[in-house]
Amino acid sequence: MKMPLDIEQVKGFLAEEEGAALYRAASEAAKLGPVLEIGSYCGKSTLYLGLACQQLGATVYAVDHHAGSEEHQPGEMFHDPELFDSSAEQMDSFREFRRNIRLAGLEDTVVPLVAPSWLVARDWQTPLGMVFIDGGHSLDAALTDYRAWLGHLRPGGILAVHDLFPNPLEGGQAPYTVYKLALASGLFDPLPQVETLGLLKRL
Ligand SMILES: C[S@@+](CC[C@H](N)C(=O)[O-])C[C@H]1O[C@@H](n2cnc3c(N)ncnc32)[C@H](O)[C@@H]1O
Repeated sequence: MKMPLDIEQVKGFLAEEEGAALYRAASEAAKLGPVLEIGSYCGKSTLYLGLACQQLGATVYAVDHHAGSEEHQPGEMFHDPELFDSSAEQMDSFREFRRNIRLAGLEDTVVPLVAPSWLVARDWQTPLGMVFIDGGHSLDAALTDYRAWLGHLRPGGILAVHDLFPNPLEGGQAPYTVYKLALASGLFDPLPQVETLGLLKRL
């Protein structure tokens, strides 16, 4: 995989190994249908998914309201003042996202959907090859994403969930709860985990 820009310069929350695993998963899964990610932020994960899809002539739907999750708000741990739009008095990662997608030459592959995940899901009809969940990390948000998108995944498709922390002292439990729910459903086969990235194949 050749990166068309310096990935270190892209703001985001994804380790390089996790990005490479997303790329590999999308390179197979996008043969079955488009890829949809929930939680793009400045586009780090989108770049890996997009590069895989571009080679196949497939599409990435990148869902994010771009107003940040709880932890990105002013005063919170992962707040970045450079992404705060003071005229609108809210976080706005969309400008930076668009810039990175443009610099990476992925405007022919990535379709940004600037809206909450539940709203995009409301009328969604297209079967998907891969769903990557990395949106809100509250239990309510993560469960809503799982329930809203699970039914759109084609058999053989990939469900990826970011930020799995089996040890509660290391991180929030919502993504791990969703991952365990998916496993317990009997609808998925687990694939090897890469750092905090869980991967499951839809039966
Ligand atoms: C942890 S960041 C995503 C990181 C990104 N995947 C990366 O590689 O750097 C979470 C993102 O989810 C978005 N988000 C949170 N709740 C959302 C929701 N209900 N619908 C859409 N986007 C949401 C936030 O705006 C934020 O940009």
